[in-house]
Amino acid sequence: MRHIPNLKDLTGDEIRDVLERAAKIKANPSDYGALLANKSMAMLFQKTSTRTRVSFEAGMTELGGHAIYVDWMTSNFVLSGIEYEAEYLSTNVSCIMARVMHHSDLQKIMSASRVPVINGCDEKFHPCQALTDLLTISEHHDGDLSDAHLVYVGVQNNVSNSLAIICDKLGVNLTLATPENDDNGESMDADVQEIIKSSARVNHVIDPKAVIGDASFVYTDTWVDMQYFNNPNFADEKEAKVKAMMPYQINREMLGDSDCKIMHDMPIHDGYEITSEMVKDPRSIIFFQAENRMHAQKGLLWWLYEEAGLI
Ligand code: CP
Repeated sequence: MRHIPNLKDLTGDEIRDVLERAAKIKANPSDYGALLANKSMAMLFQKTSTRTRVSFEAGMTELGGHAIYVDWMTSNFVLSGIEYEAEYLSTNVSCIMARVMHHSDLQKIMSASRVPVINGCDEKFHPCQALTDLLTISEHHDGDLSDAHLVYVGVQNNVSNSLAIICDKLGVNLTLATPENDDNGESMDADVQEIIKSSARVNHVIDPKAVIGDASFVYTDTWVDMQYFNNPNFADEKEAKVKAMMPYQINREMLGDSDCKIMHDMPIHDGYEITSEMVKDPRSIIFFQAENRMHAQKGLLWWLYEEAGLI
């Protein structure tokens, strides 16, 4: 049985298959209204979410299935062993999507589950976002994806890790423009570091201005993880991070007259990683990207359910 903890175990052809399915459903959604009829998916959340919750729930509904929101804090996951609760969940649903603080928790859920588990974002990986991003890039790029150049500007994190994995597998040029010695803290992953070091497609620079001129897509993400952003205990660390990261802000000066498209996985922190002017700039495809969460995940669900022999 396949799980989706990240995209490491999928081949490039398998990822292309998922994205082709997503595009097919997006083009003709009514053809797929019974694809997951009578199937239920549990959506387990340890952290806040807007897009992941809404896009999976709407997507399951539109595919004829049903999604059940399970809030960690108001469920008995807070009382019992994570493996027991996860195994139980997997007896009543055919898929689990989980957003957890720590990848180790996702691994426990996967080991206990009798049904496929999808990572809805943890501190190391955000595979559904990366699938969405490549679907969006394929829609907004003329010609072969191998000609596209994605420049990620900001901090190395779960999003940049997942972009590195998917771009390496699909042969898309990715430059991570992030500070030196950005050891990406808790999101550090040895395989991703190896990709950055050795992939012909993925590389790292310190100065974003050195590569912006060559970018077809410029992408940014929050500098501070969601669980820390409004946490008063993290205020000093946040202030220091913001000060250090200001040279990486996506703003008019940074982009100049580049004809690159602007991407952001949301939620947006106005005045931090991006200015509101750039969010609304004609080059911004941020809301097309956000809309694609649902379409990309429909493609993933179709592929995953078929892989598991569930449809
Ligand atoms: N991009 C993303 O995962 O959005 P949410 O945190 O709102 O789910």
